[in-house]
Amino acid sequence: AVNPLWSAVDDMIGEALLEDGPVLADCAARNAERGLPDIAVSPAQGRFLQMVCEIMGARRALEIGTLGGFSTLFLARGVGETGRVVTLEAKKTYASVARKNFDESGIGDRIEMKVAAALESLATLEGPFDLTFIDADKPNNVNYVEHALRLSRPGALIIVDNVVREGNILEPDEDDESAKGTRALYEHVNNHPRLEATALQTVGAKGWDGMMFLRVRD
Ligand code: DHB
Ligand code: MG
Repeated sequence: AVNPLWSAVDDMIGEALLEDGPVLADCAARNAERGLPDIAVSPAQGRFLQMVCEIMGARRALEIGTLGGFSTLFLARGVGETGRVVTLEAKKTYASVARKNFDESGIGDRIEMKVAAALESLATLEGPFDLTFIDADKPNNVNYVEHALRLSRPGALIIVDNVVREGNILEPDEDDESAKGTRALYEHVNNHPRLEATALQTVGAKGWDGMMFLRVRD
């Protein structure tokens, strides 16, 4: 459940800090119009992803789970004019909406989308990537992190979305495969020899959730 104050504050943050041109608003509007689920990152989270890319000087970003491409556009901004984003989407209907958003964005030439099950695409990819954003089917989170690690440069960052799920990760219901897949990720990265890990809880228009940050050791 979303506390109305969380949404109101997200709206205020958007108005106070995230003033922007029409590209992202058009993308969000198209995604809603085309019936995509309302589960993209918030504008504040997207801007954060962009800033992380900029701070790191990331030139190659990988995204697992395109949906309508809202987060992809922030990553494409973050990697700059000479950067590239590879984004993976399994659902053709989502990919066609994302394709339109990229074509209309003015920066679509920085984005390469692969439309297939992510594990299939990942098996064909070559690194190194500076940053990976994992935001796809949660039961595969451990598999995705291991692929991201294989494709990462030393010092790279891997960010995983939806790692709190309104607290459902504490004691996942037997039938909640998403919460179980994410809970398994915590166990997988705990004391991982090649990863330094933390996770931050968030509240906002998307409810109570969080992101995990995994730094690939040098
Ligand atoms: C879900 C997936 C997401 O990536 C997200 O940000 C929120 C919810 C979901 O599958 O429920
Ligand atoms: Mg998500």
